[in-house]
Amino acid sequence: MTSKKDIASKLQQLRDTISLHNYRYYVLDAPEIPDAEYDRLLRELQTLESAYPELITPDSPSQRVGAAPLKEFAEVTHAVPMLSLNNAFNDQEVEDFDRRVRERSGVSEVVYTAEPKLDGLAISLVYENAVLVRGATRGDGYSGEDVTQNIRTIHSVPLRLLGAAVPRRIEIRGEVIMTKQGFAKLNQDQQHKQEKIFANPRNAAAGSLRQLDPRITAARPLVFYAYGIGEIAANELSRQHSDMLKHLQSYGLRVSPDIQVVTGLQGCIEYYHYIANKRDALEYAIDGVVYKVDDLQLQESLGFVSRAPRWALAHKFPAQEEMTRVLAIDIQVGRTGTLTPVARLEPVFVGGVTVTNATLHNQDEIERKDVRVGDTVIVRRAGDVIPEVASVVLSQRPGDTVLFKMPAQCPVCGSQVIRLENEAAARCSGGLFCAAQRKQAIKHFAGRRAMDIEGLGEKLIDQLVDTGMIHDSADLYLLGFEQIAGLERMGDKSAQNLLDALQKSKSTTLPRFLFALGIRQVGESTAKALALYFGKLAPIMQADVIMLQQVPDVGPVVAQSIASFFAEPHNRGVIEKLRHCGIHWPDIEVTARAPLPLKGKTFVITGSLVSMGREAVKERLEALGAKVSGSVSKKTDYVIVGVDPGSKASKAQELGIPILEEAKLLALLNPGND
Ligand code: IVH
Repeated sequence: MTSKKDIASKLQQLRDTISLHNYRYYVLDAPEIPDAEYDRLLRELQTLESAYPELITPDSPSQRVGAAPLKEFAEVTHAVPMLSLNNAFNDQEVEDFDRRVRERSGVSEVVYTAEPKLDGLAISLVYENAVLVRGATRGDGYSGEDVTQNIRTIHSVPLRLLGAAVPRRIEIRGEVIMTKQGFAKLNQDQQHKQEKIFANPRNAAAGSLRQLDPRITAARPLVFYAYGIGEIAANELSRQHSDMLKHLQSYGLRVSPDIQVVTGLQGCIEYYHYIANKRDALEYAIDGVVYKVDDLQLQESLGFVSRAPRWALAHKFPAQEEMTRVLAIDIQVGRTGTLTPVARLEPVFVGGVTVTNATLHNQDEIERKDVRVGDTVIVRRAGDVIPEVASVVLSQRPGDTVLFKMPAQCPVCGSQVIRLENEAAARCSGGLFCAAQRKQAIKHFAGRRAMDIEGLGEKLIDQLVDTGMIHDSADLYLLGFEQIAGLERMGDKSAQNLLDALQKSKSTTLPRFLFALGIRQVGESTAKALALYFGKLAPIMQADVIMLQQVPDVGPVVAQSIASFFAEPHNRGVIEKLRHCGIHWPDIEVTARAPLPLKGKTFVITGSLVSMGREAVKERLEALGAKVSGSVSKKTDYVIVGVDPGSKASKAQELGIPILEEAKLLALLNPGND
């Protein structure tokens, strides 16, 4: 029989092993065993502990989450106040700081520890006999909230410090942050669950730590980085701040790997630029760097003034988020026809530049953030990316805000705006006609795999469009020698070459021509499939979405895009012009049509059909693979409605089943007809 003592020692062994692997995984980022093995060890511990609950210790890895939700957080007083830092916003202020330190200390060149200024929230951890006994927020610096049970859920916070030489009682200070990656993932999940979206990683970390239910905190990707100590006199441990950080590291705490020891003002400024350049690549958000006098005795002699130490300084990056007002929401039409709503802002200085516009991405984003004209918003600029509206300051919303609505017509060309299923973006269907899309479309048209107009490059197209010499691709074929030769950097010889290339391109193939039109979702292979299925251009232009879906690999999204393109009168006009200019191709004999294009589709016929009897229609449909049923149900795909339809037509409408009138039915049955 196993004695209680053996069990206790087995438990201790398991706890130590798990803690070690936890440390390797969450602090060192260097796991040694597979996740499954870790889980197995943890389960073994839990099983044994549930048999001997009296042997559970508070530092057991099984005890990270376990406490019941609180009603409220208790208040704790900080034995040593958690003060804040003085800020510097430019090099001059850093120079002043360094000079004051030198003058007060009499040291001619000061050594500093330079650290990233993590953008999370300050936390104090108290360890007694190496065991975590309390975790608290900074609060007002003198007293904060006891968030111990939430802190325990953070895996990079050791429940027991490593090593033998840990002071009997030590208070470790640092920042709880959410990694950028964790933050993005959390917001994704939150959006999915239709729950609160956080404006930035700091808010997300703060919100996560203020949960009364530790299970919620446990599910959030929080990380603790240590940067100092509170309650014990630091110089009991080391003589230098940088050395003290090494001690903390040896206790099993995470310390930023980007900390450096630097010398003098110049060392500080160099570090600032080094980190600024590295900023986007760091796993956590930072808002500047912190310089701390490295010599702890010197720190002590410098002391504090009001609420900040004389021995430290935060050198902040220019703000990346600012508040301003939305004056209007305009639409920008991109090169591929995407309509992007853009907030016109009261000019505001963010992250070193004046921002007057910020992207709102798309309609869904506007609704999610509930941004309205007249709102006060937070504008964010991250690195080189386009500024965006991060969130609305609802408390400052005036009574007369205006809701944004995506226009039904393209503001550039007036064509219909469409939004395809499963796509966030709204797009202008103007295609070849829309000014904003013209250049791109013409470039595509002239491309090697499309009309293959040799010598018609990007610069030339820009010039032709900008000078108004061409409006669409058909205009290319109307250009005269004199016009071309008159362009910048264009000699007689190149002008003639271009004319020859244009002439040559007129003789093409149907797949190339279809691809050249630049219909969204229609790449080379879809163009080929369409050409092979229909053989000629006219039936493709007339086909509705149902017919188009008979083409191999054409689904509802592609079919919709093709139908919308050809429904646009401008596009039809350009095509006619092109053919008029002499673009031609041989028709294709239709042989490759799928044998049973209507396979799996169920039809119901109601009313009488003029051109053919119901029985004949039924036969034809069945010959194409369809099933024809007598009654309308949810399983019906299409209802064919003739003259004097019965109740089946209204039932179809009720159920939202597509209705085919006779003309469309005929087109479906005879797709090859011109
Ligand atoms: S030292 C007395 N070091 O900045 C010195 N603070 O503006 C106390 N912070 O409340 C702080 N990174 O939340 C220190 N490497 C770092 C820091 C850091 C971020 C935060 C901390 C503090 C605030 C002061």
